[in-house]
Amino acid sequence: MNPLKMQLDRLARISCYKKPDCHPHALQMDTNENMCLPRGFIARLAADAMKRVDFRQYPDGLMDELTRRLGKFVGISPEHVAVGSGSDQLLDLLLSIIHDRRSLIVTVRPTFSFFLDRCRLHGIKVKEVPLREDLSLDARGLLSEQKAGLCYICSPNNPTGNQFERETVLDIARRFKGLVLIDEAYVEFARYSLKRVPLRFPNVVVLGTMSKAFGLAGARVGYATASLRVARLLRDLAQCPYPVSSMSLALASCALQHTREARRTWNFVKAERERVSETMRRFPGVRVFPSDANFILFNTGGTAQKIYRSLLDRSVLVRRIGKAGGHEDCLRVTIGTRAMNDTFLRALFAAVNR
Ligand SMILES: Cc1ncc(COP(=O)(O)O)c(C=O)c1O
Repeated sequence: MNPLKMQLDRLARISCYKKPDCHPHALQMDTNENMCLPRGFIARLAADAMKRVDFRQYPDGLMDELTRRLGKFVGISPEHVAVGSGSDQLLDLLLSIIHDRRSLIVTVRPTFSFFLDRCRLHGIKVKEVPLREDLSLDARGLLSEQKAGLCYICSPNNPTGNQFERETVLDIARRFKGLVLIDEAYVEFARYSLKRVPLRFPNVVVLGTMSKAFGLAGARVGYATASLRVARLLRDLAQCPYPVSSMSLALASCALQHTREARRTWNFVKAERERVSETMRRFPGVRVFPSDANFILFNTGGTAQKIYRSLLDRSVLVRRIGKAGGHEDCLRVTIGTRAMNDTFLRALFAAVNR
């Protein structure tokens, strides 16, 4: 058999990441972006960034500057930081280059679907350990896979929204033999961060992103904190020489110089998350799970498909999740501006009372 055809056939059989449903006229409350940061604010940052960029040059200096600023932001020296084209790209480099693809990966179920898709693409076997009924980590289940080379923990977890207990995650970091990859894409909305843990446990890599907290999903800037060795491997070997454009690097640096506006939205999101959750809990048949992220997982007495359609009829787009921690038919909604949240609440109220 022709090897090219075999490889193309194998790839064609892999189910990969599906882009979110496209409903341009609906409120996009399905992708966990930060719509609370005013568009004008981001535009002003971009205008500032634009003044600093010379597109004729490769972006070495800008990459060094952003690495320094990220180090300062998370409280770690820049040698422990590696920047990528979104944390998605760093995750992919860790899976395809740093991790030995022949060895098993262990993670929780449910978790970030892109992670599982990339494992499938790279032909890596994954053992998924279900979250407990209360959506907490089954540390013993994760640690029982003695031969696993990597343990992926998304915390706060997407799609459940809860941040796992610090001591449980640290215990896994201490006892797991391979690499522990902690994805903190939503950590600015949560209670604590583990970005400095690689200083204590060199087998830990923590991923962060400018996409959510800083409202820069379109700029594609993510980063990792890791031991000196892993950070250097990521930066100098695994990474392409210029993975992020000058404009995105400069924009991310500008965002880190003006964090006040972003921090204001983190507090706003936390307060809105509680208000929206409380209101939803009063709706008949709606169950809301506690969240430490900028989204809420919930289920309703009716089928998720019916509620999803009914919300969409009222121009509100949420994400269908399916089963989570033994709870069937879950949906996930992103916290947006107050007006967005109120529209969602009105639409959900109508949907569950239909
Ligand atoms: C858990 C998690 N990690 C990573 C990402 C991707 O982040 P980035 O935009 O930096 O690639 C997402 C995006 O939805 C996410 O939910």
